[in-house]
Amino acid sequence: MPRKKLIKITEVKTFSNVFHYKDESVFEKIAGFFGHKKGFVLELGCGRGDYTLNLAQLHTRRHFIGVDRKPSRIYNGAKHANEMNIKNAGFLVGYAELLAEIFPESSVDEIWITFPDPYPRRSSMKRRLTHPRFLENYKKILKNGGAVNLKTDDEALYNYTLKVVDENGLKLIKETNDLYSNDKLSDEEKILTKYEVQHLAEGKKIKLVRFCF
Ligand SMILES: C[S@@+](CC[C@H](N)C(=O)[O-])C[C@H]1O[C@@H](n2cnc3c(N)ncnc32)[C@H](O)[C@@H]1O
Repeated sequence: MPRKKLIKITEVKTFSNVFHYKDESVFEKIAGFFGHKKGFVLELGCGRGDYTLNLAQLHTRRHFIGVDRKPSRIYNGAKHANEMNIKNAGFLVGYAELLAEIFPESSVDEIWITFPDPYPRRSSMKRRLTHPRFLENYKKILKNGGAVNLKTDDEALYNYTLKVVDENGLKLIKETNDLYSNDKLSDEEKILTKYEVQHLAEGKKIKLVRFCF
């Protein structure tokens, strides 16, 4: 492993705003940090947490948690939050698969899934973050009416998610296959992630699907 990555993985463990799914009583630690046991907004597959940090700055009284399985990616967002003194954002090193084992029922207000790996092969379909096995977990931890937002550049993942929403009788709130052709975007929808910037530079269209249970 490159030395820089190793340093990040070691250092991120010392950050007060980073939690690890293997920590004992991890939810109690999260609740202690925020002073709250519910009302969280999660960004799944957050990478360096662009949504987490920008949403936290837009809504300073709400609580945001970026979740990613890779601590070296979380390092950048968590360091930035500390340097910018952003107190209402934290990060969880962990797997989206395990959310319902960490967060209590109805403790989450909203979920953002930002540019997840599309897993195009049929054999890896179960790893897509909008596969029904993930949705079951999201439903457990979301409050009644809490929305799931998917932002992606990937046409196949966008179509797959619309199909899952339809086949499972979920409530579609909004969908577009070209977000930026719409002139009435909310401040939340306009937040750009690292990957999104790259996709836009390549001329790709950004898609959004928002739904609830
Ligand atoms: C393509 S990157 C997008 C990063 C960031 N959201 C962005 O838009 O810049 C996808 C991220 O999802 C994370 N990821 C993939 N599967 C995951 C899972 N099951 N649980 C948690 N994180 C996951 C990866 O580690 C990676 O950082």
